[in-house]
Amino acid sequence: MSEVPWVEKYRPKSLEEYVGNSEAVERLIRWVKNWNPRGKKATLLYGPPGVGKTTIALIVARLFNYDLVEMNASDWRTAEKISRVAGRAAEQGTLYGQSKRIILIDEVDGIAGEDVGGLTALLDVIRKSRNPVILVANDIWQPRFSILREVCELIEFKRLTSRDVIKHLKRICAVEGLEADDGALKLIAEKAEGDMRSAVNDLQTVSYGRKRITAEDVSWLAARNRILQIFDALKLVFYAKTVNGAKSAFEMVDMDPEMFFEWVYENVPAQFNALEDLAEAFENLALADLFLAKIKREQNWKLLSYALECMTAGVAMSRRYSKPKWAPFKFPSRIRFLSSFKARRELLNGLAAKIASKTHASRAKAVREYLPYLKAIAVLNPSLCEKIGKNLGLTEEEFSILGGLKETPPEIPGKAKYVRKR
Ligand SMILES: Nc1ncnc2c1ncn2[C@@H]1O[C@H](COP(=O)(O)OP(=O)(O)O)[C@@H](O)[C@H]1O
Ligand SMILES: [Mg+2]
Repeated sequence: MSEVPWVEKYRPKSLEEYVGNSEAVERLIRWVKNWNPRGKKATLLYGPPGVGKTTIALIVARLFNYDLVEMNASDWRTAEKISRVAGRAAEQGTLYGQSKRIILIDEVDGIAGEDVGGLTALLDVIRKSRNPVILVANDIWQPRFSILREVCELIEFKRLTSRDVIKHLKRICAVEGLEADDGALKLIAEKAEGDMRSAVNDLQTVSYGRKRITAEDVSWLAARNRILQIFDALKLVFYAKTVNGAKSAFEMVDMDPEMFFEWVYENVPAQFNALEDLAEAFENLALADLFLAKIKREQNWKLLSYALECMTAGVAMSRRYSKPKWAPFKFPSRIRFLSSFKARRELLNGLAAKIASKTHASRAKAVREYLPYLKAIAVLNPSLCEKIGKNLGLTEEEFSILGGLKETPPEIPGKAKYVRKR
């Protein structure tokens, strides 16, 4: 896939194309317009990723016809480099004939935490600057940013609404000649939770090789996220340092307690390698299981917190001798088995209904009395079975549970017995 990423291709170039956060945008424009070296020399745009903080800085520079000097703070390894690179650009004033400039310093929270000099250098750059400085960060509430927060004009950017996200996605669809159902765009937008970058990336992924996308085409995105979430929650259970840390695991996931239990249960053996720990973890799970059963039987939901505590904190605190070792988390095999079992049962039901309607018997009778004959015919006379199957209007899948598929002839019972005897 050599296509340009749509996040770049459709990065808004003007205010008309930019959606959401209108108040923040207005404040930024006003700040640039009124900038003077005696006021606040820098503004700090902060908020969650993918909402257009970097993009608006680019748009505003263009709007005022400023040159933009762009720097990425997380690339700076040392304080010395900050003052050398950013300092020079910021300090240079406007010479005659040279256009004005804005300094953009992106990913400020990427300045290494252990490099105390980095922040000092950044503050120094701001103090000496003769140009407006725009800083961009996700999280500015760490204590180490307290001085930075004071010297900057703070402008908050919020998560985008689904409506705003959909608006932008529709623009992309129109240009790409992509037909997208409203339901599909809504699903993508909701799943992105206000992060336009992730919404646009998802849209590009699901529309690859398609001219039209439906809600069904994008439904797998929701499942993908749920899996990521459960992995994070399991990490909390298996590597928690505190009881409270482990207890918060269940709150992270959108899942019922029984399903969460299955996930923990499946992964205990791979995550703990000391027998003592394993025993204790399973003891806790057994208790949780008892509580869950009681809740189900008596609808006594007060017990839920005990059940949850056993399967999160109880399991977490079982780790005493096991060394942390990396092992991939696995999907609960019991659930996989149950769902394949359920699928098979449904298939059998459908088959029984077809036999029943042709033979005027009940479904139960069809399963009990006619199906065994059909199975025998499937083995002994496959071509006859195929004819009967056609006559009954069986689907390929229904036909296959008769064992009548020629590629995989099932063992003939009598023959098997004979072999075993020897
Ligand atoms: N408000 C927005 N309107 C339209 N597109 C946006 C908006 N915010 C983000 N995008 C899209 O997401 C991409 C990432 O945006 P960016 O400005 O880098 O986000 P941030 O700096 O907040 O992490 C952009 O290239 C653009 O395609
Ligand atoms: Mg950015």
